[in-house]
Amino acid sequence: IEFSITANDLALGTYEHYMLKEIEEQPAVMRNILAHYVNEDDEVVVDDEIVEAFSKADRVYIIACGTSWNAGLVGKTIIETLAGIPTEVHLASEFGYNTPLLSEKPFFIYLSQSGETADSRQVLVKTNKLGYPALTVTNVAGSTLSREANYTMLLHAGPEIAVASTKAYTAQIAVLSILASVTGKNKGIEVAQNFDVKQELSLVANNMDSLLTDENKFPSLVHNLLAETRNAFYIGRGTDYSVSLEASLKLKEISYIQCEGFASGELKHGTIALIEEGTPVIALITADHTNLQTRSNIQEVKSRGAKTCIISMEDVAQEGDDVVLPHVHPLYTALVSVLPTQLIAYYATLERGLDVDKPRNLAKSVTVE
Ligand code: G6P
Repeated sequence: IEFSITANDLALGTYEHYMLKEIEEQPAVMRNILAHYVNEDDEVVVDDEIVEAFSKADRVYIIACGTSWNAGLVGKTIIETLAGIPTEVHLASEFGYNTPLLSEKPFFIYLSQSGETADSRQVLVKTNKLGYPALTVTNVAGSTLSREANYTMLLHAGPEIAVASTKAYTAQIAVLSILASVTGKNKGIEVAQNFDVKQELSLVANNMDSLLTDENKFPSLVHNLLAETRNAFYIGRGTDYSVSLEASLKLKEISYIQCEGFASGELKHGTIALIEEGTPVIALITADHTNLQTRSNIQEVKSRGAKTCIISMEDVAQEGDDVVLPHVHPLYTALVSVLPTQLIAYYATLERGLDVDKPRNLAKSVTVE
């Protein structure tokens, strides 16, 4: 299961694009992460020093850009739930120059696939000067952010070549959940004690596999929904809202369809003015307590002419929902709900005949502020 960078990892094999290869690698990445964070005694472990420093924090500050920032939003909920530490998620480019009031014992997490992002690094340089503990969560051992932080946790996702990040997003959420769960157990937090990372993450991997076997439905779904449009919306509440932000980033960065992720309840407070005949609106629904509300938001846009699509978890799915997600633990819904949105972005881009792996104006790793 070990991922080391071999010629094979870098080869496309039978794939036409790295993005699809990397989307399909996600179940293996989940298993690979488990393999790296489970010891010989079959226990999930994180370096003691990291857990100790993390446990002392009265507040966690996650610093990141782009897709990593979106992963941080999901990570926040997981950290607060399992480790019981209030967590803020900040855009690196904002934080460094508009630093908020910090708590007494902050702990910084730098989330970065490449470990080279200059916006994140300028914050790390500042927090290092102030002597605050910093953990880099990255895919690249020996990267700048890893070398300059006190601690590193690796994503073990294998090289990510496509500019649009996919497997790093799910890997970041999984690795943060491991940190949160080990810390929470250590602190005697009941939710963490009852949360079996190994079992839940293995279930995620299996369910990712089953979702991916259904992949051939996406080209026609995308054709019906997005073929002609210049804009689109993703909506959701809670974690589904966080995933909506990542889903819309993915769609816009490669297909150039202008897309916004929205908190479904907020839509009516302004943005609903943009809905006209045929505007695509995709809803993500994975939780029972927001199911009816988000469905009523979908009705609101439908009655104004929107073309809608519902991606729902099987527990809350209704007949006619376009994509049904297999059940996973409520803390892990993002890990499966994001997959269809990655495939939607991929097929929308293919249909437009654009360069999936190398979108215009973007770079895989951005080393200027
Ligand atoms: C660039 C990439 C994005 C990525 C962001 C942060 O803008 O195009 O896909 O999410 O940087 O990268 P990092 O390596 O820090 O996660």
